[in-house]
Amino acid sequence: MKTTFPEGFLWGGAVAANQYEGAYDVDGKGLSIQDVMPKGITAPPVEEPTPDNLKLQGIDFYHRYAEDIALFAEMGFKVFRFSIGWSRIFPKGDESEPNEAGLAFYDRVLDECEKHGIEPLVTLSHYETPLHLAKTYDGWVDRRLIGFYENFARTCFERYGKRVKYWLTFNEINSVLHAPLMSGGIWTPKEELSQQQLYQAIHHELVASASATRIAHEVNPELKVGCMIISMPVYPLTPDPADVLAGRMIDRDNYAFGDVHCRGAYPGYFLRKLAELGVELEITEEDRETLKHTVDFVSFSYYVSICASADPSVEKGPGNIFAGVPNPTLPASEWGWQIDPVGLRLVLNDYWDRWQKPLFIVENGLGAKDELVEKDGVKTVEDDYRIQYLNDHLVQVREAIADGVNLLGYTWWGPIDVVSASTAQLSKRYGFIYVDRNDDGTGTLERYRKKSFDFYKQVIASNGASLT
Ligand code: BG6
Repeated sequence: MKTTFPEGFLWGGAVAANQYEGAYDVDGKGLSIQDVMPKGITAPPVEEPTPDNLKLQGIDFYHRYAEDIALFAEMGFKVFRFSIGWSRIFPKGDESEPNEAGLAFYDRVLDECEKHGIEPLVTLSHYETPLHLAKTYDGWVDRRLIGFYENFARTCFERYGKRVKYWLTFNEINSVLHAPLMSGGIWTPKEELSQQQLYQAIHHELVASASATRIAHEVNPELKVGCMIISMPVYPLTPDPADVLAGRMIDRDNYAFGDVHCRGAYPGYFLRKLAELGVELEITEEDRETLKHTVDFVSFSYYVSICASADPSVEKGPGNIFAGVPNPTLPASEWGWQIDPVGLRLVLNDYWDRWQKPLFIVENGLGAKDELVEKDGVKTVEDDYRIQYLNDHLVQVREAIADGVNLLGYTWWGPIDVVSASTAQLSKRYGFIYVDRNDDGTGTLERYRKKSFDFYKQVIASNGASLT
């Protein structure tokens, strides 16, 4: 069925401060955990920033934002998702007064968005907890993080709340289960972290997220606040009910975060899991009241689907932040992430049926090795593989809209090449715009339009009618 995308559909792209801004120590910015994670989540953090950490310079968006936003505008972007580097605003995280130079930078970014009629979509916390909060407080394990985050959130809402309508509280909040440092700023190594600490940290984040929603509505009742979840459809590896149940258990680990954000309380299956793990959460009466501030919409990232097996000896494959059993019917990217456009339709229907809140796809994309070539005297990348991926996923989005799903928009992950979150490489490229920077740090930082640039431009201009 060929329906069209709704009028006013928000087409665009998404990035995160730590993966593209660079300028890691400029204008009073404090260190974030990413500044000491030169290998992403593939190796433990280091003590000090080291020159091999590509995120320190990123793609220098900090100085090239006007040029980059102009390129997004050329593609016809209606929305641009970016994060506010927490340690640019509160260098250590626990100060009471913000850093004016950091705040001013995002004013300039918003000026450019406004100039081009691009709606901003802002993530407050995207894997870039101030390093001081990680080292001194062990990140979200400590309840005091709620207050520091509330201060950060309020500062942002008050400063930008007249210009930014759409907000996300935490990027992929469910990823803390798998990447406690990157996602939760938890300095204790994963192997040493107890379930008690981990789930208490999750509770603190959930309370902080609900609290930010409350504050946003207080500052400006027009603001729309969403949660952000890694979505990952889980298929049973076989029709054996034990495999189906194993899959459902993985689903529930992810659903729990959306359930709390949309229903305002912990679901029964989650409480059972805590009891089985021997975890006793410290939940105050005030926490329970705060959690009742539910979100206005649900956003999510979608890259891969996985299979589940009840048999623990079945080997897992690579995936986005957490791994699953590979699906024998699906192809995979060069990084082993399995490509499954239909999974996106499934997720959209699943979330809409479950939560009945407007949805927003805020990440979807293909990380691939690109080759810069010269065509008619112009440097470009012939990235037909990326075009195929985008087309096939958007066709499934269209199907979901025809199914009745209420979808606000779609932001492609990394419309311009950025540093990868998991591996910290630049060679894992997602962009429609190529950035001349290599994994060894060399390169001119020049930008070049890839073939997919024009493809996406057409999709946006035709509001999806050009999809095949
Ligand atoms: C998401 C993150 O999990 O996936 C992004 O929100 C990240 O920050 C994206 O960049 C793609 O993952 P990676 O590891 O290929 O950069």
